[in-house]
Amino acid sequence: MMFGLSPFPLIFSLNKIIIKHKNVFVKMKKTYHLITIGCQMNVSDSERIAAYLEFYGFKPELNRAKAGLVVLNTCGIRQKAEDRNYGLIPEIKANNPHAKIILAGCLAERKDVKRRLAKAVDIWLPIKNLPNLYRELGLKKKKPAKKDYLDIRPLTNSNFSAYVPIGNGCNNFCSYCIVPYARGREVYRSAGAIIAEAKSFIDQGYKEIILVAQNVNSYKSLITKKDLKCFPKKKEGTEVFFPELLATIAKLKGDFWLRFFTSHPKNMSADLIAVMKNNLKVCRQIHLPAQAGDDKILAAMNRKYTVKRYLSLIKKLRTAMPEIGLSSDIIVGFPGETRKQFANTEKLMKRAQYDMVYLSRFSPRPLTAASKLKDNVTAKEKQRREEALNKILSLTARKNNQRFLHQVIKVLVQEKNKRGEWLGKNEQFITVKIPGSSVADLKGKFVKVKINEAKDFGLTGELVK
Ligand code: SAH
Ligand code: SF4
Ligand code: F3S
Repeated sequence: MMFGLSPFPLIFSLNKIIIKHKNVFVKMKKTYHLITIGCQMNVSDSERIAAYLEFYGFKPELNRAKAGLVVLNTCGIRQKAEDRNYGLIPEIKANNPHAKIILAGCLAERKDVKRRLAKAVDIWLPIKNLPNLYRELGLKKKKPAKKDYLDIRPLTNSNFSAYVPIGNGCNNFCSYCIVPYARGREVYRSAGAIIAEAKSFIDQGYKEIILVAQNVNSYKSLITKKDLKCFPKKKEGTEVFFPELLATIAKLKGDFWLRFFTSHPKNMSADLIAVMKNNLKVCRQIHLPAQAGDDKILAAMNRKYTVKRYLSLIKKLRTAMPEIGLSSDIIVGFPGETRKQFANTEKLMKRAQYDMVYLSRFSPRPLTAASKLKDNVTAKEKQRREEALNKILSLTARKNNQRFLHQVIKVLVQEKNKRGEWLGKNEQFITVKIPGSSVADLKGKFVKVKINEAKDFGLTGELVK
């Protein structure tokens, strides 16, 4: 049974609670609706928010207009993403005037956002504060309580693919990026806790474990007594780094794939490449954002590598694993980016021969160093540059995809599309369509597919035994 504000239990029904908010007692349905905007880290965080709320007795409500609590897990990576949040709030208020609104995630600590939305938002929830949300909801602390939000066992959206966050925050301060301000400095989970979480998913039959952090390869943690059973050869107090963590998870028993996002080129080590090469459960896939292909722009972005170093990393990766899938993030129109400098990015794209690139037009973010520079590439020019890179990407992706033609490859089936065709991903994270496949439920299963068509952003094939 749930209690309201201590010391008086204010509850009178299991489905409703009375919460004291802004010094007023209000009755609220114990249901929640969760909206997630942003990257995998936010998707993963939302799984912990959901688990927390359900632990405190809230039930999911699919209809946003009926929920007692509406949680908006926000993103502010670009102005467009930020504006989506601003667009949603009045809509939620209009359709559900009694809902309490929790604003979680990457806008929750921004002073300007707090001022702007002061009236609309009831509870501000920077994700680190999740373990204390019960207080804001006027509830009594329930045990077992967790101090670190990452230790909350998530309620996963999928029953075959699981995000396992290995840390939170970022120390890199790329000059354009709001993440270090939105999420704070890097904090990493203990290796033992990460391995235990991954193991429990694998034991439940999950087929894909995705390790996530802003910069996975700067992971570092001290071995404690508890961690020793996962690392019998290590001593207490010594450090464990990402390659060792990855290798340890890859050696767990079970039929699964292991992926990780995002790697920063400045921390990409020979050790990590060797671990990937030597452990076949680690997918032949790397997301290695270049951001730009010009050394001066890279320096202005504070990325701490040169084009030469980036290209040599790709070469090492491809030499070790010729079949690897390579993806990147690139920003066009960084302040001061000349046509010549942009041409260098085009050159990089042609040389890197990516399978996938997430392109963004530079968007000035409050607090960041680049927001103080003149955003002098026009919107039209940014669009032109994005389109030019997209053309290069289509060509390289199509050419790369030819390598799968007539091959039999392993695919993890994800979902059925509207036409009833199964869709999955291969190791390289390329979408594979399987038309006319059996009616059997293939979702979440590994299947073998013979590829008979290769386009720019996907493959098509038929099931084989
Ligand atoms: N930690 C990851 C990226 C996280 S943000 C990394 O270091 O690569 C995801 C992507 O958003 C970035 O890689 C970048 O390409 C883009 N991005 C971040 N800030 C941006 C901004 N101000 N304008 C445009 N794109 C931006
Ligand atoms: Fe942002 Fe750079 Fe950190 Fe990535 S590494 S989250 S781009 S500051
Ligand atoms: Fe957005 Fe935060 Fe991710 S700003 S991209 S949700 S880390």
